[in-house]
Amino acid sequence: MGFNAKLHQEKIHRVEEYVAQHKAEIAQHPWRENYHFQTPVGWMNDPHGLIQFQGKFHLFYQHHPFSGKWGTMHWGHAISTDLIHWEHQPEALAPSEDYDGWEGGGIFTGSAIEHQDELILYYTGCAKDRQVQCMASSSDGVNFTKSDQNPVLAEPPPEINPHDFRDPKVWKQGNLWYMVTGVTDGVSDLIEPSNSQKNGLGKVCLHRSKNLKNWEFVNYLVESGGELGTMLECPNFFSLDGKWILMYSPMGLQERQVVYLTGDFDEQTGKFHWQTMGSVDLGFDYYAPQHFRDDRGRDLIMAWVGSWPFMPWCRGKYDTSELGWYGSLTLPRQIRLCPDGKLVSEPASEVEKLREHEQYYAPCVIEEAKPLPFTAGDGVHCEIIASFDLSETTAQRIVFSLRGSAEQETKLEFDLAKGEMIFDRTRSGNISALQRKCPLESASQSELTVRIFLDSISIEIFTDDGRTTMTNNIFSNPESNELSISTIAGRARLLGLRTYGLKTTVNA
Ligand code: FRU
Repeated sequence: MGFNAKLHQEKIHRVEEYVAQHKAEIAQHPWRENYHFQTPVGWMNDPHGLIQFQGKFHLFYQHHPFSGKWGTMHWGHAISTDLIHWEHQPEALAPSEDYDGWEGGGIFTGSAIEHQDELILYYTGCAKDRQVQCMASSSDGVNFTKSDQNPVLAEPPPEINPHDFRDPKVWKQGNLWYMVTGVTDGVSDLIEPSNSQKNGLGKVCLHRSKNLKNWEFVNYLVESGGELGTMLECPNFFSLDGKWILMYSPMGLQERQVVYLTGDFDEQTGKFHWQTMGSVDLGFDYYAPQHFRDDRGRDLIMAWVGSWPFMPWCRGKYDTSELGWYGSLTLPRQIRLCPDGKLVSEPASEVEKLREHEQYYAPCVIEEAKPLPFTAGDGVHCEIIASFDLSETTAQRIVFSLRGSAEQETKLEFDLAKGEMIFDRTRSGNISALQRKCPLESASQSELTVRIFLDSISIEIFTDDGRTTMTNNIFSNPESNELSISTIAGRARLLGLRTYGLKTTVNA
């Protein structure tokens, strides 16, 4: 169907002009993050196309530059040498063709590969009546040309709803290229988002190709019987520590937003036989992680920090959309697999480069009703690492009070009696002022260690040795910066508390 290079260039130019006009004003807002990646202007969701190309890290993301709300999608782009400091690039892809929806949904999520010295992108073109898979390539990693053979994959299998056939993730295995896409056989979630519970069954399609352009259907990697979701968005399929992992973002599974399945891949049949199911992260605001392996062989993931308005806790509203922007990305996380099939994530070591003003609090006993106040950088942009000896702790709960002031407080509670971690943003200042709970494995062990990253609005929490993570946004006043640890119904033995301020990466 061809490629209108001139129109594409014009569209990119229009984005660049708009971004240049608005970025200084948006950068002023105190809710802008200091060290989590954000687009300079507009709405962003899923990160994708993560790859190391010619020695540099490339990050692309779902971008609607022209407002703080989701709209016709583009691919924003940034480059980094350390996964922490990102340099914004011109928009990589803008909708310019009938097949990639220049009057509709636009250019949806996809992935990147390197082939014959080119950086090749796969993406979903969201046309009026269907979603199709397309490709674009670049030799300099900055300027992209859409394939004149687009769409390279125009039809899902016949039983699939053509409106829900998206998010191609491509990889090479032996002499073949494989692609997974998320699909449903029910009514489109995009057309009827509020109906997502009534929809059909989600599946992950597996296609393969010898030449990157002609794709044949192999099988459904998995098919939901209800337990895996109604639509399986942003599937990633990769080997990790001797097993295969299918990681995706399901619609229709309530609070289970990002699932991973661990199991074995039968390449002959194209079936995935999974044994373990888990959640990559249990927070409100974690979605659409993408996996890539870097030149050092590390398995890394980054995800969108944000929520969709149709998610029950959002009540159809976003806290920053009216300001002309929304969304950020998590820190890069390195993942590995435990022998029991559970996934461990921890911040990539590069994150430590941001540390400054280290403080160390000596071991002590925290008595009930006698909280331990502490400081960490400016109390807003900081890292906190604390560990407790649970064999000498009698408390029912250990409570971190974060971003506190007379009016506001965010509570992170470790309920040792119930074996739960509870994130409470009812007094944080959010539109969505709610609690999130998840199981806490350490409650039955001798030690609890927790690592917390606070940025202007996001909080990333790692505990259970990285087996439990939670990512949430809070929209507190910048002046709310008090920190303390307290206990309920008993005392806690603190083994150590280390804190750091974290430097900004904006305009660094
Ligand atoms: C997931 C998702 C993808 C889609 C993109 C559209 O967050 O819905 O399935 O490609 O966002 O922006």
